[in-house]
Amino acid sequence: MSDLTGTGTGTGTGTGTGAGTVEHVLEVRGLEASAGGRAVLHGIDLTVRSGEVHVIMGPNGSGKSTLAHALMGRPGTEVTAGSVTMDGHELVGEPAWRRARAGLFLALQHPVEVPGVGLASLLAAAGVGDGGGTAPAALDDRMTDEAKAVGLDPKLLRRPLNVDLSGGEAKRTEMVQLGVLRPAICVLDEVDSGLDVDALGDVARRLQQATEEWGVGILAITHFNRFLVQLEADLVHVMVDGRIVATGDAALALQLEQTGYAGYRDPR
Ligand SMILES: Nc1ncnc2c1ncn2[C@@H]1O[C@H](COP(=O)(O)OP(=O)(O)OP(=O)(O)O)[C@@H](O)[C@H]1O
Ligand SMILES: [Mg+2]
Repeated sequence: MSDLTGTGTGTGTGTGTGAGTVEHVLEVRGLEASAGGRAVLHGIDLTVRSGEVHVIMGPNGSGKSTLAHALMGRPGTEVTAGSVTMDGHELVGEPAWRRARAGLFLALQHPVEVPGVGLASLLAAAGVGDGGGTAPAALDDRMTDEAKAVGLDPKLLRRPLNVDLSGGEAKRTEMVQLGVLRPAICVLDEVDSGLDVDALGDVARRLQQATEEWGVGILAITHFNRFLVQLEADLVHVMVDGRIVATGDAALALQLEQTGYAGYRDPR
């Protein structure tokens, strides 16, 4: 099993996906899943590699969050067929923490409040920096740097996780976690929703930078092309009724914003 991120957290392994940086791959094959006993995903195939930015767009209720939950092993979402592998290791059936150890990260659409647990303790428990050996001061510095990168007041890092944060603050706190943990592949479920226009730019820029800084691979779920002004999408996938019905380049996101999903929906 690799370390927390598989990319050498905190060791400054490099610049981009070139020499010195380990390549990672998340492969999803024929994934079918149900939520609350209802079949939602009907065969998803995706491959996300280090440094790539994949975007998933689709109507409300099409199964985007269910996909995110199935990838991370969120309780309540049951995989009924198919596989999810990280660097060739099967993740289906593994608890979320093992998937995190394998290098996967999920920013939830609705970040959960965890009273009594501070962000620093959470990150320390996650084993940031060589099995949790990072000195508290160093962790503090990294959290502060990441907060500043997304325009979050570092004072808010002292609150219990997400407790009493505004919607946009909670989304930026997810970004702090991502920046400190440096996962190999991240799944971002509407991390842009609720952000003001300045924060939107900050978050998109930080993500773009991360693809070069440690070669993170990104699977970003969003409803808005404007998120992709500063985050360059390699591929845009359209999900309708639990299936990926189209894949294109960044121009597809702009087209969807202008035309909607009418051409992709089942006409029944
Ligand atoms: N626990 C559950 N119990 C019953 N139905 C569920 C459950 N979770 C999700 N669903 C249903 O599955 C479908 C897909 O939901 P999902 O949250 O994945 O959609 P989404 O594409 O993320 O939508 P949005 O764009 O609104 O976030 C919806 O019809 C939803 O009501
Ligand atoms: Mg959703």
